Amino acid sequence: MRILAIETSCDETAIAILECTGDEKSAQFNVIGNALLSQVEIHKEYGGVFPALAKREHAKNLVPILEAALEEAELLREDTQAISEEMHAKISEILAREPGLTEAFFEFVSECETPEIDVIAVTAGPGLEPALWVGINFAEALALTWSASRRIPLVAVNHMEGHILAALTESHGEQFSISNLQFPILALLISGGHTELVLMKKWLEYELIGQTRDDAVGEAYDKVARMLSLPYPGGPELSRLSESLRSSGFRNPSLDDGFRKPFILPRPMIDSGTCDFSFAGLKTAVLYLLKKIPDIKEKEKQHIAHEFENSVTDVLWKKTTLALDQTGAKTLVIGGGVSANTHIRRTFTENISKEYSDVMLKIPSAELTTDNAVMIAIAGFYRASRKEFPTDFSASGNLSLAQKP
Ligand code: KG4
Ligand code: ZN
Repeated sequence: MRILAIETSCDETAIAILECTGDEKSAQFNVIGNALLSQVEIHKEYGGVFPALAKREHAKNLVPILEAALEEAELLREDTQAISEEMHAKISEILAREPGLTEAFFEFVSECETPEIDVIAVTAGPGLEPALWVGINFAEALALTWSASRRIPLVAVNHMEGHILAALTESHGEQFSISNLQFPILALLISGGHTELVLMKKWLEYELIGQTRDDAVGEAYDKVARMLSLPYPGGPELSRLSESLRSSGFRNPSLDDGFRKPFILPRPMIDSGTCDFSFAGLKTAVLYLLKKIPDIKEKEKQHIAHEFENSVTDVLWKKTTLALDQTGAKTLVIGGGVSANTHIRRTFTENISKEYSDVMLKIPSAELTTDNAVMIAIAGFYRASRKEFPTDFSASGNLSLAQKP
C-alpha cells in the first residue's frame, strides 16, 4: 500500500510518501518521499504559534511541499490534465476558505499525471483547528481530483496515534518496521498540548490511565523558557541550558560534597497516588523564584533550567512506574515532541534497565520525535488496513484517543 500523508496540525507543513507492507503485528515502512517545512522562524517573533498565521503558511506551503515529496518519490510526471467544469466547481467549494491555495492547487494538478498513490492520510486532530482544516481540505481536493482515474480513499489520522505508532517502530535508515511487540503497551505521551499515560491492550484500542490536570509538559517547558528569556521554541533551548550544566559534571548535587543545590522546585503531585499530572504549579514556582533574583546571571539560569528539568523528569518517571505497576504493561513507549529531550530519554533508559528489566522501552528515533508526516502515514496504514475510510471529514482541535475506563 502506498500512502501519501499530510500533517498540518501545528507549525509544521509536512507531506510524506511511504510504501507500507505487512500487517498490524509485523509491518514495514519505506519512506520514498518526505518534505517538511517548519514555521518556527515565523512564529519566533510572537513567542509562540499564532493560529491564523499558521493557517496562512500551510496554505502557501502545501503545493510546493507536495511537489517536493512527489519528486523525491519519483512520482512526479508532467502531463496536461483536463479538469471538468463540474470538478472545478466542487474543488473550488472545498478550498473556498483557503484562497491562497486554490490557484496553486489547480495550476499544479492540471500539469501533472495522477501519481500512483493508494491512500491519502491526513491529520484530523488534535491541534489548531484552522491549521488542521487547511490540511483536510487539501487532502479532500487531492483525493477528488486524483480519483477521476482510480479511487483514492482518504483516512483521518489522530495525531497522537501517529506519535505512538511511530515511536513503536525500529528504524533502519529510511526504513522503519514494527514487529514482535508485547502487549499491553503503555504509552507516555508528552508534547506541547498533551501529557497522558495511555494503555493499548490490543492494537488501536486505547484506555486513558492518567493525564495532566492543567499544563502539558511541553507547554511548561515553553513557558518557563520564556520566563528565562530563551528564544522560541523554548523546550529544546531550556534543555540545552540544563544539559550544559550536566555536562560540566553537575549531575547529582545531593552527592556533591560541599555543594548545595542553589534552587529547589516542587515535584507536583508526585505522591498523589494517581497517574494524573499537574505542571501549572511548577511553572508558578519558577515565576516566584525569578522574582527573588532581579539580575539573573547565566549560571543561575542554568541551575533553574536544570532543577526544572529534574522536577519534570522525576514526576514523569514516578507516574510511569505507578502506571506500569497498575497495568502490568510489557512495553513502554514514549512519544510526542518532548520525547526528544536528552535528560528524559537518558533517565528512562537507565531506570527501565535497572528497575523494570522485563519491560521493553521504545523511544522514537530523533527524526520521528517532533511533528512530521511519516508518523501520520504509519498511523494511516493501520487505519487503512482496517478499511476505515470515513466519508465525512472535519477537523477536531480536541480529538481524543482514549477515555478513562
Ligand atoms: O509533538 P510536538 O512537536 O507538537 C505537538 O504536538 O505539541 O511537541 C512540541 C513540544 C514543544 O512544547 C517543544 O518545546 C517540546 O515539544 N520539545 C522539547 C524538546 N524538543 C521539543 N521539550 C523539551 N526538550 C526538548 N529537547
Ligand atoms: Zn505532536
